[in-house]
Amino acid sequence: MNKKSRFYSNGIDYHEIIECIVSALDAKDPYTAGHSQRVSDLSLEVCKLLALDDQETEKIHIAAHLHDIGKVGIPDRVLNKEGKLTAEEWQYMKKHPQIGAEILSKSHHLNELKDMVLYHHERVDGSGYPRGLRGMEIPFGAKIIAICDSIDAMLSNRSYRKAHTFQHCYDEIKNNLGTMYDVEIGEVVLGHWEVVLFHYKTK
Ligand SMILES: [Fe+2]
Ligand SMILES: [Fe+2]
Repeated sequence: MNKKSRFYSNGIDYHEIIECIVSALDAKDPYTAGHSQRVSDLSLEVCKLLALDDQETEKIHIAAHLHDIGKVGIPDRVLNKEGKLTAEEWQYMKKHPQIGAEILSKSHHLNELKDMVLYHHERVDGSGYPRGLRGMEIPFGAKIIAICDSIDAMLSNRSYRKAHTFQHCYDEIKNNLGTMYDVEIGEVVLGHWEVVLFHYKTK
């Protein structure tokens, strides 16, 4: 960690501590273990492609580590269920961004990241949750995390399905630009698809 980082002070590397805390989520939800790490790694690459400044990049990278931390508050029977969730179980699951934002709001350091966590399941056409925000209303970092989150979900095995192919994943992002995903960010990701391939083929 860069010692000029806002997440490094008095000799303490908060980034490392955040990774440690997020690993508690992996322990609770082994099927998606590593998901938060991969989403944060990919988000970092996308920030670089978008030429965001160091401070913004670091905030988005750390928010991506924490994006699903609210799943610690979801009952295991829902989180680890094999097969599709019922409508009632989905209502539980959809609370995780709110729970995550509430957790982060308890820290002065992390409070500034909470909106990226709260809105990582919003969609630019307003069909996402929890608030149905549209386009520019959604924090830019949340829209980066949303694309990286979807890519990782598609390229990972789930209890109820195998991982999708890279081509399927590419097509899904492309076909949902302007509805699920931000067009500017999505086009940059699709234009540098080799970054995604490298990311997954080397892990
Ligand atoms: Fe999520
Ligand atoms: Fe996620």
